[in-house]
Amino acid sequence: MSRDVELDHVTMRFGDFTAVNDVSLHIKAGEFFSFLGPSGCGKTTILRMISGFMDPTGGAIRIGGQDMRGIGPNKRPTALIFQNLALFPMMSVADNIAFGLEMRGVDKAARRKRAEELLDLIALPGSGDKRIDELSGGQKQRVAIARALAVEPQVMLLDEPLSALDLKLRQHMRAELRAIQRRTGLTFIYITHDQGEALTMSDRVAVMSRGRIEQVGPSASIYDAPETPFVATFVGENNVFRGKVTAAADGLARVETPAGVLLGRNARGMSVGSDALIFVRPERMRLDPADAGDNRVTRPVAHLDFEGSFANLVLSAPEGSPRPILVQLANDGRLGSLQPGAERTVGFAPADGLVLPAGELAKD
Ligand SMILES: Nc1ncnc2c1ncn2[C@@H]1O[C@H](COP(=O)(O)OP(=O)(O)O)[C@@H](O)[C@H]1O
Ligand SMILES: [Mg+2]
Repeated sequence: MSRDVELDHVTMRFGDFTAVNDVSLHIKAGEFFSFLGPSGCGKTTILRMISGFMDPTGGAIRIGGQDMRGIGPNKRPTALIFQNLALFPMMSVADNIAFGLEMRGVDKAARRKRAEELLDLIALPGSGDKRIDELSGGQKQRVAIARALAVEPQVMLLDEPLSALDLKLRQHMRAELRAIQRRTGLTFIYITHDQGEALTMSDRVAVMSRGRIEQVGPSASIYDAPETPFVATFVGENNVFRGKVTAAADGLARVETPAGVLLGRNARGMSVGSDALIFVRPERMRLDPADAGDNRVTRPVAHLDFEGSFANLVLSAPEGSPRPILVQLANDGRLGSLQPGAERTVGFAPADGLVLPAGELAKD
């Protein structure tokens, strides 16, 4: 069984410091939902409030429609998993998994049966008698998940559970976690500062900055239609040009920047005279563009980072910007012509430029 989780104007203050600031959202039953944001933005604080280790200083948390204020962690239908797995090295795998059941007085045969079922679920059948130190890092991670599942939570809370694993294992475990979530149908609330993790696993992602939610939506909308400068630069790479809106019509805005006049989608309906940022993804930038209209910038090549099937071309920062221009190029066999120092013209179609109100960017 799974339950929905509602955050209703949730705020957490520590003295004068507001760690979580007026967060409202509704996580559906059976959803894989991630909170994504830089270190210190308040992710763990949100999870601790949902799990019951502390109550918010303002607002309410409801699980399955029930207000959770004053209800301790053991009385909530949640289970929490974090990076430090805290498995018991002296106990067998099966005893680790069944630990919570033993605490609840479940008899030995029933514990063993449940452990076997969960070992099947995490794709480690027949491993119940192994010792914890006979397992790989990824297998230990799965055992920790099985142990949390043993007590039949309705909501699983995961706080950066993969961050101690190496890259390859982490990528493998993304698929494993997603599969376990699908098989159990439980609500998963996942916290990470790793955008790749959040975007690949989640039904929806909430991007956070400084205790606030910047944007909530499916992965594709977070990447393709960022609503704030922070989201545009925290999730994936983005080129940024800064300027003022000089004309707005037909869904497009003309922005006068020190690098020239640029035209992009006026997604937030900005009016003439406003301070604007125009964002363009490196994979939407074109070299020697035919279809870019006036959206052209000519700068010297700084360097070319060859990646095999593609390359990242870096041009010196345009006037008025501290950030170099990034252009992702398919390897068409002609990359050799891009020598450092040579002036090149790049551009983008107006549909590939996103005009947003000026605001804080994510740190590099
Ligand atoms: N118990 C506490 N007392 C004071 N400040 C805290 C406490 N817990 C967290 N904070 C502060 O709240 C902010 C958010 O912390 P946290 O939720 O752990 O961030 P994240 O998990 O996103 O890295 C941080 O600035 C942290 O120092
Ligand atoms: Mg944290």
